[in-house]
Amino acid sequence: MQIEVTGEPLDAVDADLHVTGLAQDEELDAAHRELPGAGDARGVFRRHTLLRPDADRRVLVIGLGKRDELDAERLRVLAATAVQEAGRYDATTIAWALPESGGAGQTAPVLAAGLADGTILASFRFDRFKSRDPDDPPPPTVERLVISAPGSAGDLEQAITQARVAAEAANRARELQALPANVVTPTYLADRAREIAGAHDSVEVEVLGRDQIAERGMGGLIAVSQGSAQEPQLICLRYAGGGSRGETIGLVGKAVTFDTGGISIKPSAKMEEMKMDMSGGAAVLETIAAIAELELPRNVVACVPATENMPSGTATRPGDIITQLNGKTVEVNNTDAEGRLILADALTHCVRELGAQRLVDIATLTGGVLIALGSTYAGLLSNDDEWADEVAEAAERTGELAWRLPLHPEYKDLTRGTVADLTNSSAKRKASTIYAAEFLEEFTDDVPWSHLDIAGTAWDEGRAYVGNGPTGFGVRLFVSLLAED
Ligand code: BES
Ligand code: MN
Ligand code: ZN
Repeated sequence: MQIEVTGEPLDAVDADLHVTGLAQDEELDAAHRELPGAGDARGVFRRHTLLRPDADRRVLVIGLGKRDELDAERLRVLAATAVQEAGRYDATTIAWALPESGGAGQTAPVLAAGLADGTILASFRFDRFKSRDPDDPPPPTVERLVISAPGSAGDLEQAITQARVAAEAANRARELQALPANVVTPTYLADRAREIAGAHDSVEVEVLGRDQIAERGMGGLIAVSQGSAQEPQLICLRYAGGGSRGETIGLVGKAVTFDTGGISIKPSAKMEEMKMDMSGGAAVLETIAAIAELELPRNVVACVPATENMPSGTATRPGDIITQLNGKTVEVNNTDAEGRLILADALTHCVRELGAQRLVDIATLTGGVLIALGSTYAGLLSNDDEWADEVAEAAERTGELAWRLPLHPEYKDLTRGTVADLTNSSAKRKASTIYAAEFLEEFTDDVPWSHLDIAGTAWDEGRAYVGNGPTGFGVRLFVSLLAED
């Protein structure tokens, strides 16, 4: 999407739909106050009124709610309202008057970035498999957003570029999430990684296939993949953007392209949703594309273990004992607890082979996090308070929220195996999200590590600017995290 900033007033901008905000208990701006219908406009959050409905240049007045509650998140929601209204009038260009101020800390760049995010995310569509009558072309989408900000236009460029690049990357991750498992296979994701590396000189790619994964001793990734005809891929990317500045950050993302549960098979109801069990991996791949496009001054390595989890005559059986890359042994008591097995090897690889000095992983790991936090907050678990705080702050900035859950030696005890070092699932069905994180911690080589469990947030139900479906959760959070000094 094309996004422009202008110092011109709203009405001087050429656009199909002009949008101006009205805060609660305030008056509409002088330029629009006299238009027919202006008297009906209200400042209640999300209430909207169309002025000049028949004219070429429609003006949509959107309620901002209370001025001191106005923040980037509210603007994401309101930007989505404008996109919906644009759809009703086949408008392809939206011009927004940037609200003059918001709540504490909500500077013009922060608010403008919210408008950019919301407009791009709300414009996402996934309709490529719908046949269309050639005489009935698809409805137009918003192609251009102009933000009118007399007074602050010059300060907005950088924030808007970052917001645009990150939101477009999030939409690409959403496409990967939405695509079915017969399209998005491990090798499809590997090809996407190669494409990213091909597009940026600052990015290198290396992909390991089944034989190399086995040779290196990645027993977790082998065990999960051995029931599938699809070849597993360990997809590694390296982005060198920072010379010698700062630590090398490692991003690890779970990419189970379809999770049947394996021999511990899942119930058939809604099993189709498990095509999104690669959401963490998709977020990691598109994050690398975004930070390369933004040329962020960072050094980042990424590791995405990609596989299907299928039942078959060659599949791992409950009770099988495997040896992970770092030498620890695991009783696989539940083949549906597969994410932790592949992440374990990827975390070890990311530190020992790729040189990560600090880790963050992202995974649709446990149903428990959906029960605990719903689709509003991801679970955040960490062995390092400062690192966890940085992740949680990036989460707040982007509206991709994360809530910290504890680690504790008593939980760790649950992960101990009876005949092996660890078990991937205990008979006591306690604290499953924490259990999984305690398991992963065994593979972090004690570097600062944060873990995001996105089983609840990767697929949303009704958030205004993402609607029902894939959210791309993590891409905007990671870009914001990596853009901080
Ligand atoms: N991919 C699932 C987790 C999941 C659940 C993601 C719902 C998205 C929505 C994961 O592999 C899984 O099956 N987890 C099990 C682990 C259990 C068997 C220990 C779970 O959380 O139920
Ligand atoms: Mn599973
Ligand atoms: Zn899974």
